Amino acid sequence: MTDTGLPTRILGRTGMAVTRLGYGSVELRNARPEARRVTDTVAGELLNAVLDEGINFVDTSPDYGLAEKMIGRFIAHRRSEYFLASKAGCRVTDEPGGDGRHSYTRANVVAGVEQSLQRMRTDYLDLVQFHGRPVLAELIEGGAIEALQDLQRAGKVRFIGASAMLPDLPDLIATGVFDEFQIPYSLLDRVHEGVISGAARAGAGTVIRGGAARGAPSDEKQWVDASLGVSEERARGLWEHASLDDLLDGASRMAFTLRFTLSHPDLDTAIVGTSRVEHLRDNLASLRQGPLPADVYAEALRRLDEAAARIGQ
Ligand SMILES: NC(=O)c1ccc[n+]([C@@H]2O[C@H](COP(=O)([O-])OP(=O)(O)OC[C@H]3O[C@@H](n4cnc5c(N)ncnc54)[C@H](OP(=O)(O)O)[C@@H]3O)[C@@H](O)[C@H]2O)c1
Repeated sequence: MTDTGLPTRILGRTGMAVTRLGYGSVELRNARPEARRVTDTVAGELLNAVLDEGINFVDTSPDYGLAEKMIGRFIAHRRSEYFLASKAGCRVTDEPGGDGRHSYTRANVVAGVEQSLQRMRTDYLDLVQFHGRPVLAELIEGGAIEALQDLQRAGKVRFIGASAMLPDLPDLIATGVFDEFQIPYSLLDRVHEGVISGAARAGAGTVIRGGAARGAPSDEKQWVDASLGVSEERARGLWEHASLDDLLDGASRMAFTLRFTLSHPDLDTAIVGTSRVEHLRDNLASLRQGPLPADVYAEALRRLDEAAARIGQ
């Protein structure tokens, strides 16, 4: 992969230099025509803009409707420009997007990877992450880890990861078999702040989802859907009790949110999703500004701790 001028970090023991802003492709799902948010044309423009702007990490999943197919259709010819991460354990069905359920049997894991390779018109995936809140005992029982290791030996998968949450993460980290963990985190949802560092200390790469707090702090989104489990009321309450507007120094709330995420010392890349090229460009501008100044970051953490104590968990 060529140096594109964006800040990069080594993704843990994968040794790969990934841009600190990645692209999360869930917004390209479009599985049901009536729920269509992104036309094929816009999907093609977005995916090519991601690469043109220098982002080299693309995250997807068989669970994200048409997203894998869009990646295959619009950027497979640029395959050497991006580190491609997908998921495993999503139940394989003929329908794009599957049925939202997960099965960690060897047969389902192998069939899923083969289907991802075909949809994305590639002969290898850089990273395959177990999806759907995988629990270690289930992965072992189904032979899922061995299945991915066999695919690794066959050259179809380069690195193995897990998209997981507490309380399951510490057991998965302790196995030492995962090269990467995908973990949710933002200033409105800091539950995983410490375990991100735990994963990094164990040598794994850290990929953060939800780092834009799903756009909730922006004027257009009005606090809707900040993250799984964070209500609109809580998101707005945290922001207001912490008086974060006082720390913006002329920046937008979204820029502050993203720069806060990127200030976490143990985060390698934040895979922010968007359906709009303008938002992609705004997020790149925030990335180029870098993490927050150390004193502003420390003050934001202090205020958010105080606000959380005041309004409760
Ligand atoms: N493993 C899992 O279980 C799992 C679950 C969810 C997601 N993911 C992955 O993680 C990626 C990101 O996660 P996420 O979508 O939950 O969180 P996110 O990246 O924090 O939020 C994405 C949302 O934020 C909005 N947004 C982004 N930039 C914005 C901006 N500058 N201004 C206003 N709104 C903005 C986008 O809306 P617009 O389209 O309007 O820009 C989009 O709806 C996904 O794409 C996917 O690859 C994984």
